[in-house]
Amino acid sequence: EKKLCLSIVVLGASGDLASKKTYPALQFLFRNGFLPHNVSIIGYARSPLTDHQLRDKLRPRLSGGEEERDAFLKHCTYVQGDYVGSQGWQGLEGVLSGREGKYHGCPCGRLYYLALPPSVYPQVCSGLKTYCDALPKTEGSWLRVIVEKPFGRDLSSSEELAEVLGQLYPESQLYRIDHYLGKEMAQNLFVMRFANMFLSPVWNRNCISNVQITFKEDFGTQGRGGYFDTFGIIRDVIQNHLTQLLAFVAMEKPLSIHPDDIRDEKVKVLRCIQPVQEHHVVLGQYTAADGQPGYTDDPTVPSGSKTPTFAAVTLFVDNDRWSGVPFVLKAGKALNDRKAEIRVQLRPTPHFVFGGNPERMRNELVVRLQPDEAIYLKMIVKRPGLETGDCAISELDLDYGKRYPGVVIPDAYPRLILDAIRGDQQHFVRRDELRAAWAIFTPLLHAVDEGRLPVHPYPYGSRGPPEADELLARAGFVQNLDYKWPHKA
Ligand code: BG6
Repeated sequence: EKKLCLSIVVLGASGDLASKKTYPALQFLFRNGFLPHNVSIIGYARSPLTDHQLRDKLRPRLSGGEEERDAFLKHCTYVQGDYVGSQGWQGLEGVLSGREGKYHGCPCGRLYYLALPPSVYPQVCSGLKTYCDALPKTEGSWLRVIVEKPFGRDLSSSEELAEVLGQLYPESQLYRIDHYLGKEMAQNLFVMRFANMFLSPVWNRNCISNVQITFKEDFGTQGRGGYFDTFGIIRDVIQNHLTQLLAFVAMEKPLSIHPDDIRDEKVKVLRCIQPVQEHHVVLGQYTAADGQPGYTDDPTVPSGSKTPTFAAVTLFVDNDRWSGVPFVLKAGKALNDRKAEIRVQLRPTPHFVFGGNPERMRNELVVRLQPDEAIYLKMIVKRPGLETGDCAISELDLDYGKRYPGVVIPDAYPRLILDAIRGDQQHFVRRDELRAAWAIFTPLLHAVDEGRLPVHPYPYGSRGPPEADELLARAGFVQNLDYKWPHKA
């Protein structure tokens, strides 16, 4: 097989996102042997930097000893250029084709990673398309573009952006990152659902009472308030990350594991969800508590802002499998905990002949994405001992740390970049999928933007507004406060 001449261009290389996420992810792939030895990683941005200055800037962000960092940094170079005009782009093209020219007859891969704000995507993509598109015609050559949210603010602005990019690149060349799709447990959800016989007969409205998908952070906006304030928690986390998880929980089995078969099913299930109704929403904003600042105390947040930092939203999937089952998507900043998990609560067992309240003795399947990946199934067992007829909630417990000791679970970004290099679009958001997700939330977002919904205050470090617990109770969720996981002996 002929060697691949792989060039990765990091656009916005001098920025924060690039040094915090993109380069460390590339280094992870490099250290673990997933990038070819001859890979070239070209940073592109407006700042006047030399290769050395770029490397010095990146070095503290990388992992491993001095030698390991340098081994990676040797492959990193820098091209300075503007995003307007032709000069910068021509310089970049010169570097790329100069290198590709030395690999005569070999397939060439160009990966353009846009570590830039979406407002400049149209301009940057049009520059790339016009000036940096001279890929050799060798068989197996490819050019792919990675972009990341926010993709617009609502259905129409997202479609507008998609339209502009779509005029430049076909869907097969566009890789839209939702980094939750790169998480181990998100990917595992798909396998668990469709490879386990014992799950399939119960995975529907007959047995499942409600589903909760929760994202909690125990810190506030921390200087990111300027960005956050223009979006709010629904656009930041719920419309994308949590909705993607919902699609995995609720989708039908795809025809095959071909990326488009999978994405077809995800689109189908998202299209079964009606836009959120206002009475199915609770919004919140954190206030100062215990010496921690409130949201509007963040100097980057406009004073008097009503932007929600917390939201709980109930959705219904109108199809045979799920009709009537509430899916509660809940996300918040500055809460009492940091975790992301999916909680599938089953209905109570009919004709419960044992002691205890059957309403509370329910099976519940929990998939914890982070921290500490785990899957556990709350199961009712005989309370150990001489008593008869007495039962207790225990669990079937799969703790990844214990079951797979020493196995490194890679972060989302390296995984997704590797998928893009391999040309696998399974874990990237297709245009119609994005459209379907925006359609669910757009009327609600407009109502929020117009200030038509109450935003309940909640203290920094709390569970969020109590109204959210009421929403969950209405969805049929029964919280069992006696049960704690993981169990400490
Ligand atoms: C990002 C959001 O997409 O996801 C952030 O913009 C959020 O606000 C982050 O903190 C959470 O990602 P993770 O991987 O830390 O759960």
